[in-house]
Formats: sequence, structure tokens, C-alpha cells
Amino acid sequence: MDGNGRWAKKRFLTKSAGHRAGAQTLRRLANAAEKLGIKILTVYAFSTENWARPQDEVNTLMNLIHEYIQQYIDDTKKNNMRICVIGDISKLTHELQTKIRNLEDMTRQKHGLRVNIALNYGGRDDIIRACKKISANVSNDRLSVNDIDETMFAAYLDTGGMPDPDLLIRTSGEMRISNFLLWQTAYTEFYFCDKLWPDFNINDLNEAIAQYQGRNRRYGARNDIEKRDTNG
Ligand code: FPP
Repeated sequence: MDGNGRWAKKRFLTKSAGHRAGAQTLRRLANAAEKLGIKILTVYAFSTENWARPQDEVNTLMNLIHEYIQQYIDDTKKNNMRICVIGDISKLTHELQTKIRNLEDMTRQKHGLRVNIALNYGGRDDIIRACKKISANVSNDRLSVNDIDETMFAAYLDTGGMPDPDLLIRTSGEMRISNFLLWQTAYTEFYFCDKLWPDFNINDLNEAIAQYQGRNRRYGARNDIEKRDTNG
């Protein structure tokens, strides 16, 4: 959800106003994604590296996340969304952790769009935490080293049980992965656009999906040759 700061700067507003506008865009986009029948939407709200931002910005983001988690608690009473948090939430305040757990529990049985909010999330940290859990199980003899394969490893990640993402959208002209779902995006299609996140709208989402639908996903194989062969 990149570009909140630049969006605010262009309007002579505070960074905080930019993040607030970004949070509103997320609410709109989640509703649109649900209507489109998208099953899972994962958003990068706070990375393991974002702690290095100025303390007042970190505080603003945490307060905003608090406020929106509360709003989602109210919203999800009326809609069918399941909200989950990925990342190491043990570093967040106890109050926020409790709110997050409540929201997750309240929405566990919902079968509409699943929104994963990545909070204190880092792809490398996700992999390391998975390694630690696997190592502990190996030490306890609950697991053998020979049991470790890609499917099993993926189950230990924060996204365990979920399919890998089909499409990753990065706004604001940035063309990096910035430590997002590193393992999970091995074959994800990437869509980059210049729009700043607060300006990203439903038409932009449709455009990203349309581009995705035109891609030929080969997963390293050669289905182009297969196609040529069957067409003679
Ligand atoms: C990147 O923009 C955005 C973030 C680091 C935070 C995204 C967080 C929100 C939209 C808050 C809401 C989250 C929830 C779950 C309600 P940037 O500040 O790096 O923008 P810039 O590159 O233009 O400075």
C-alpha cells in the first residue's frame, strides 16, 4: 500500500493524513474485492523494517491500525469477511494483540473474502520463524528431517493452509518486493502501477486483474510448446 506519504505531501497534508487515506482505500478495495469474488486479499500494513521510521510515524501507524481493527470488528458484524493477521504480533502492545485475536476469533467462521493484514511482517522473518518451529519439532522427535519438503515447510509459514498469491499489486511506481511474502511469491504474477495507494480505485483493481488474466502462467514449464504442437 505504497505512496501514502507522497500522496499527503502533494496535498500539503501530514503523513498521518496520508496513512489515514490509505486505510480508507483499503476498506473500499476490500469491499470491491469481495464483490468480485476474490477469495484472499493480503495487505502489507507494517513491515519488520517499518520500526525504523521516525517514532511519531510509527505511533501514528499503530494508532491507525488500532482504530481500524476496531472498525473492522464493527464492520464484520454486518459482512462476511474473515480477517486474519500475519506477522509476529508479539511485538505489538498487549491491547492490540487482544483486539487482533478477538477480531480473528469473531470472523473465523466467515466464508467471504479473507483479508490477511500483514503486521510486523517480514518475508525473511516468516521463514526464520518457520525454521525455528520445524527445528523444535525435530528436536522433540515429532518430526523427522526427511519429512521436510516444500509442502510441509509452507504449512509452517504464517500463510500455512492458504494457496500462494496469484497476483501481487505494488503501487506508487516502486518495483521491489520489500521483504513481502518471499517464499509465497515464487510464481506470483506482479503488477506495478504508478498510482499512489490512496488514489488506487476499483477501476485500477479491475485493470490489474485484466492484465493478470492475459498472462500465460507456465510455472517454469513449457506449455507454449504444447500449445504450438496441438495447433499443428
Ligand atoms: C507505505 O507508504 C505504507 C505504509 C508503510 C503503511 C500502510 C498502512 C496503512 C495504509 C494503514 C492502514 C492499515 C490498516 C490495516 C488499517 P509510504 O508511507 O512508504 O509512502 P511514501 O513512500 O509515499 O512515503
